[in-house]
Amino acid sequence: MSPFQITRTLPEDATDAALRADVLQGLTATPKTLPPKWFYDAHGSELFERITELPEYYPTRAEREILVDRAGEIAAATRARTLVELGSGSSEKTRHVIDALTDLDTYVPVDVSESALTGAGRALIAERPGLNVHALIADFTAPLTLPDTPGPRLVAFLGGTIGNLLPEERAAFLGSVRALLSPGDALLLGTDLVKDEEVLVRAYDDAAGVTAAFDKNVLAVVNRELGADFDPGAFDHVALWDARNEWIEMRLRSRTAQTVKLPALDLAVDFAAGEELRTEVSAKFREEGVRAELSAAGMELSHWWTDREGRFALSLSTVSLSTVR
Ligand SMILES: C[S@@+](CC[C@H](N)C(=O)[O-])C[C@H]1O[C@@H](n2cnc3c(N)ncnc32)[C@H](O)[C@@H]1O
Repeated sequence: MSPFQITRTLPEDATDAALRADVLQGLTATPKTLPPKWFYDAHGSELFERITELPEYYPTRAEREILVDRAGEIAAATRARTLVELGSGSSEKTRHVIDALTDLDTYVPVDVSESALTGAGRALIAERPGLNVHALIADFTAPLTLPDTPGPRLVAFLGGTIGNLLPEERAAFLGSVRALLSPGDALLLGTDLVKDEEVLVRAYDDAAGVTAAFDKNVLAVVNRELGADFDPGAFDHVALWDARNEWIEMRLRSRTAQTVKLPALDLAVDFAAGEELRTEVSAKFREEGVRAELSAAGMELSHWWTDREGRFALSLSTVSLSTVR
């Protein structure tokens, strides 16, 4: 086998059909919404990488600090031979785990962004001779078929991306992750933690406007793919903290009353002046909540590590033996 393979698990027209369905449903709902996975075309993935370097965006630095400090413990606890990473993006922080896993045979990055997978996969096989990289272009919220590779398997879900799922979506998602694990396998999960509102809002509304550009990129994706006529300049980026749900919301606020046409859907969507379209939820967590959600999905948290400032957590979990048949 070639050391780098990339497999599209869904046909191109399935992606197209999923975008159409999400846009039709989201823009005809009250309030209007769009799911965050559509941010990530090649330009969106590049913008996300710039976000990770912003002074206000602490999660990437905090999670990297934990990975640097704990990679040896993660490797010793899991002895993984296959590392599957969901929503892998640039795989940049993951290199710390890859380097520590001395018996690693195959890395399976899974992402909707083909450009991110290609860039990360090529760089990794050049840097790590002997490592097989089998990338999957796939939606991690849909059932996944993983390549047949040696165990034990470690599934990593980093970056706090789990917070982009709503609570009921998270429960279904964690159930499907549990189904990927056999006894002896493990889940490495990155969760951003509840903290001061000002710190959180700044992380999603930076002074240089990179997050605003990322937020508006979803409109460019819908324009390109569905022939819509969104004017990104006619919307303002908004980030706000929902204290009841303990999540950040990113929204696009219409500056004026306007009508957007989406010919591919035979749809015209009216926005009132000031009306907001929700583009992302980013839930923040507490240890007891993470432990309970994992337990409800049939997993048992064995390690909980935070960065030195207590901003972000990584947890390691295994299959609850009571759920093994
Ligand atoms: C917040 S970024 C995190 C990237 C990287 N894991 C990190 O920690 O920096 C989310 C990543 O998940 C991918 N993604 C978002 N929704 C997805 C979905 N439903 N299925 C697969 N990948 C998805 C995006 O393309 C992006 O690379």
